[in-house]
Amino acid sequence: MTGDGADRTPGAAIDPPSWFSSGAAVSDPGIDEQFEREWPDCWERAGDLLDWERPYETAFRGGDTPPFEWFPGGRLNASVNCLDRHLPERKNQRALVWEGQLDGGRSYTYLELYREVNALAAGLRDLGVEEGDVVTIYLPMVPELPAAMLACARLGAVHNVVFAGFSADALAERMERADSGFLVTCDGYYRRGDAIAQKNKADNARLAVDRDVDVVVLDHLGQGVHLGEGYHDYCELIDAHEGAEVESVARDAADPLFRIYTSGTTGEPRGVTHTTGGYLAHVAWTAQSVLDIRPEDTHWCAADIGWITGHSYVVYGPLALGTTTVLSAGTADHPERDRLWKLIDRHAVDVFYTAPTAIRAFMKWGAEHPERHDLSSLRLLGTVGEPIDERAWHWYRDHIGGGECPIVDTWWQTETGAILVSTLPGVDAMKPGAAGKPLPGIEAEVVGPTGEPIDPGERGELVITRPWPGMPTALADGTDWGERATTERDGWRYYPEDAATIDDEGYVTFLGRTDEAVNVAGRRFSTMELESTIVGVPGVAEAAVVGADHETTGTAIYAYVAPEHGAEEADLRERVRDAVEDAVGSVAVPEAVVFTPDLPKTRSGKIMRRLLEDVANDEDLGDTSALRNPEIVGELQSRTPN
Ligand code: WT7
Repeated sequence: MTGDGADRTPGAAIDPPSWFSSGAAVSDPGIDEQFEREWPDCWERAGDLLDWERPYETAFRGGDTPPFEWFPGGRLNASVNCLDRHLPERKNQRALVWEGQLDGGRSYTYLELYREVNALAAGLRDLGVEEGDVVTIYLPMVPELPAAMLACARLGAVHNVVFAGFSADALAERMERADSGFLVTCDGYYRRGDAIAQKNKADNARLAVDRDVDVVVLDHLGQGVHLGEGYHDYCELIDAHEGAEVESVARDAADPLFRIYTSGTTGEPRGVTHTTGGYLAHVAWTAQSVLDIRPEDTHWCAADIGWITGHSYVVYGPLALGTTTVLSAGTADHPERDRLWKLIDRHAVDVFYTAPTAIRAFMKWGAEHPERHDLSSLRLLGTVGEPIDERAWHWYRDHIGGGECPIVDTWWQTETGAILVSTLPGVDAMKPGAAGKPLPGIEAEVVGPTGEPIDPGERGELVITRPWPGMPTALADGTDWGERATTERDGWRYYPEDAATIDDEGYVTFLGRTDEAVNVAGRRFSTMELESTIVGVPGVAEAAVVGADHETTGTAIYAYVAPEHGAEEADLRERVRDAVEDAVGSVAVPEAVVFTPDLPKTRSGKIMRRLLEDVANDEDLGDTSALRNPEIVGELQSRTPN
């Protein structure tokens, strides 16, 4: 390997090292023009990474407006693509390496995972799961989670994975909305050495859901679980169907593979449904072209499967390509702060993919932790979820990537299903701080308030101007998405609601969201959802939630709360935190709950969130004369912890 870390001018382009380009899955510098020339047929390159039970007629069918059809006529099964088709060549290769925390580790070869998935699919079918049914999966990072996803896929059922850290209420709401009559969960799991109960949250959700629900419970902690009426033991189900081979259900390319919920602007979770053909093709293609994953690799995407990143790049992308994927439970700092580096060393990980928030935590913990381990197996590093600053970028490359590994900064979202903006690591120069260009075949612009492209360097908003294979069903069908998907004079557009700048080479730098969302540690929460939870707490008169810059998590949640007269503050603070934990989960509990006699308001009575954001970030407030209650500003500043 040859180093090329010479250029340290912040933001300056760094060419991909030649040792990397020469072996990269995609290294043809003409790929952008080729995709442009051949659009939409260029997407056959993605479609042809999959095995189709019935071939598709064409990569794309559609005009300037929806409906858009990806791989029409094609029929396929996602579990066949992730398992069956790899058996002839790699049945004894590891598909999945699992690292528990207190609970040891385990790995599954492709054959073992195939067997587990088939036995579980047979069990679920016995319980009545049929094609098109929605199965909710509420599991932490255990191997049974991807197994359950693939078992659903095998039956043509739609999985609905709910992040294990979400509360019973959040789970119940997502089950109701998805009209899901099946739930797969577990007794509990370990986190930082503590056993966390999971089943009682599932029990409460089941009681709250307005229909009969069959529940499959994995006894993960191995302490025995009490199973009442309507409950089934995961292991018994598997054992009863050991050796079963379940015929896979072929699905149309546009049929749903899964549902996932993300924060909407209305304060309610928004369901996003991804397709079987378009999604899987897009995920497999980007896993190959951007993450450079090959079958002989060990790939580690450190995201939780409860979020889209885990769906796409822990489960579907790597398994579709027949690689070894690493799944790790627990946290990066337990039992020691070198846990990740120890595991990279132990499993000779080739590609490592994580969020900038994690990288900033590693920086804080110090380079001595990675230095204790041999990380030379790494070939490529990736980041996702939020902008990465240059300092963190260089730290990542120097201390994890040995000063040599290329880094891909991948921009995408729950709605896009797979990566849309990044560099191709074997082709493009990297610019620390900028994510990269729209990938080949993806067309996007940065536009100003009137929707016209703006000059390089000016702040605007990203807009995607052509359909992409991983688009969700609602965008493909033309279901109303409010202002986010429009057909204007120049045709169809999708607004991801991300502020951005673009440079004269087409590299996009992301500047945060334009909607009422805060992105904490790469996870998106709606301020409205949090506010409505907080104002529901007895004793709270009014509340406003803003994001404050945070050294580690990028953004932290600050809740400004105006209590009702006579409310006891210490007590109220606890109740606010508990309410958020119950409604959403501990991940969304505010970093700071600031009490104030009043919130800053305009003369028409609107809460000035922008001003609160500036207060939370200790920024210059400028002119506050538009406020009805300017006297509150000093009060807010003195009470805000910064
Ligand atoms: C939002 C999507 C898809 C992965 C995880 C989050 C922000 C995502 C980047 C990046 C700057 C990024 C955007 C996006 N985001 N990746 N590389 N650089 N910002 O999924 O919860 O759907 O959030 O995360 O604001 O819209 P999500």
